[in-house]
Amino acid sequence: MSRTESGIPIEPVYGPGDLTGWDPAVALGEPGGFPYTRGIHPGMYTSRPWTVRQYAGFGSAAESNARYRQLIAAGGTGLSVAFDLPTQMGHDSDAPLARGEVGRVGVAVDSIEDVRALFDGIPLDRVSTSMTINAPAAVLLLLYQLVAEERGVPGALLTGTVQNDVLKEYIARGTYIFPPAPSLRLTAETLRHCRSELPRFNAISVSGYHMAEAGASPVQEVAFTLANAVAYVRTALAAGLDADAFGPRLSFFFVARTTLLEEVAKFRAARRIWARTMREEFGARDPRSLMLRFHTQTAGVQLTAQQPELNLVRVTVQALAAVLGGTQSLHTNSFDEAIALPTEKAARLALRTQQVLAHETDVPHTVDPFAGSYAVERMTDDLEAAALELMRRVEDRGGAVAAIEAGFQKAEIERNAYRIARETDSGERVVVGVNRFALEREEPYAPLRVDPETEARQRAALVRRRAERDGAAVAAALGGLRRAAAGTADVLPPMKEALRARATVGEVCGVLREVWGTYRPVDADG
Ligand code: 3HC
Repeated sequence: MSRTESGIPIEPVYGPGDLTGWDPAVALGEPGGFPYTRGIHPGMYTSRPWTVRQYAGFGSAAESNARYRQLIAAGGTGLSVAFDLPTQMGHDSDAPLARGEVGRVGVAVDSIEDVRALFDGIPLDRVSTSMTINAPAAVLLLLYQLVAEERGVPGALLTGTVQNDVLKEYIARGTYIFPPAPSLRLTAETLRHCRSELPRFNAISVSGYHMAEAGASPVQEVAFTLANAVAYVRTALAAGLDADAFGPRLSFFFVARTTLLEEVAKFRAARRIWARTMREEFGARDPRSLMLRFHTQTAGVQLTAQQPELNLVRVTVQALAAVLGGTQSLHTNSFDEAIALPTEKAARLALRTQQVLAHETDVPHTVDPFAGSYAVERMTDDLEAAALELMRRVEDRGGAVAAIEAGFQKAEIERNAYRIARETDSGERVVVGVNRFALEREEPYAPLRVDPETEARQRAALVRRRAERDGAAVAAALGGLRRAAAGTADVLPPMKEALRARATVGEVCGVLREVWGTYRPVDADG
């Protein structure tokens, strides 16, 4: 008996008997209509293609800016910024902890000067920018807004997304800084700030991708992501925000695996669960609050270093799953990413993959083509039921935050990751080129290398900036931030003034660390 990645049996043949009592009017609705199973817009790609949004960033702001220009020139229709680990963890490039990491997995951003360089020559009033930043999301969002304001672009025109999803960082990925309570205080304030100053900006991208990369099954990915989203909604409501005040600007981020049929069912089920949750549990009425709008990235963890060109095929199937599943925005991985940062050619091939799907296939010409499929509708129902059951188990533990603090999600994902590893080692799970159809001798591949001088240059620039700026103004602004963080006043206004005075990411996060402390994960063994 074949099973899906979620462990649900796959029948060799599906037929009418698998959908007895199934009512399309209830299960599907119309495209662009509640519960949005078939997609959030009536016309989907027939009226606007998905956004080609390639995640990129490495080295200095100037190097990353060059890559963004290349991607836009090659046809990219949205930006997606990868930050290096020091930035993601709220440390400056000259912090001891930053050594060896500056510019390595993303771009190094220390202060407003880097953000100016990062978006040099890019029209911020016309390009939407996603920033994969979590614990210091407010810091990078304010830097982005400051640079836009310097160029005469008001916040009301800015479009984009900050990931700002710290709960999944406690579960997977690990780029958290503060404990849950102050982190959620920042999340709520950022939602409020976007509501008032950046109305077209998506203040959060609740992510399942990283949990999937850590080994979560599709059911776990949907259940834990939506449970986290429920926790964010509750946080915002507790902060006095109305569900329809921020609901339209919640967005989501999922993976697309090579198991195409289940992935299409996963996206359809997730839309239906979220639409019903927002309407029935939170009383949201604005249709835009009920729509699960999401970005998809093809599964990095399924890329292989062996015979790397095979990844072009995997990424194509995964991207097709995302498009058949109705994604709003898509990143396709480069075939060489299992080896190193993508070369310019590999990044272009990844983008071209989306363009072939968009312009050479007939998939974008009709909405939700799997609708009514015995197999995919049954898979959608089964996945929905399993995800709802797992969401109930999280709820039984007091909700996502309490479950995180008890290590529940992490332990569940690790169990599934172990199963995947065991099946791969035994050969039960075929990985072409790795445990079957392998080459005697792999051909050498010359990957891109980050300039080793980047770190030294970034550190030297920091020293110069600190010498040039008005130290007293920075100290006074950081003092204001400290007082706000220690009290109940909003922290974003003094944070913005500190950043305007050229305070660094590390200095701002350092003040918050002193006041709020840093998170220590529960030991899985309790
Ligand atoms: N009919 C009518 N209107 C349509 C339409 C259609 N078919 N399609 C789109 N539109 C409208 C939308 O309603 C929207 O209007 P609005 O501006 O008034 O809201 C506009 O056209 C733009 O469409 P979208 O908002 O759907 O498209 P975007 O691409 O701008 O936004 C998103 C997509 C998912 C909502 C947004 O949150 C987003 O871009 N997310 C990206 C997140 C991202 O890139 N994350 C990267 C993570 S990488 C990472 O985490 C680390 C790595 O290791 C994995």
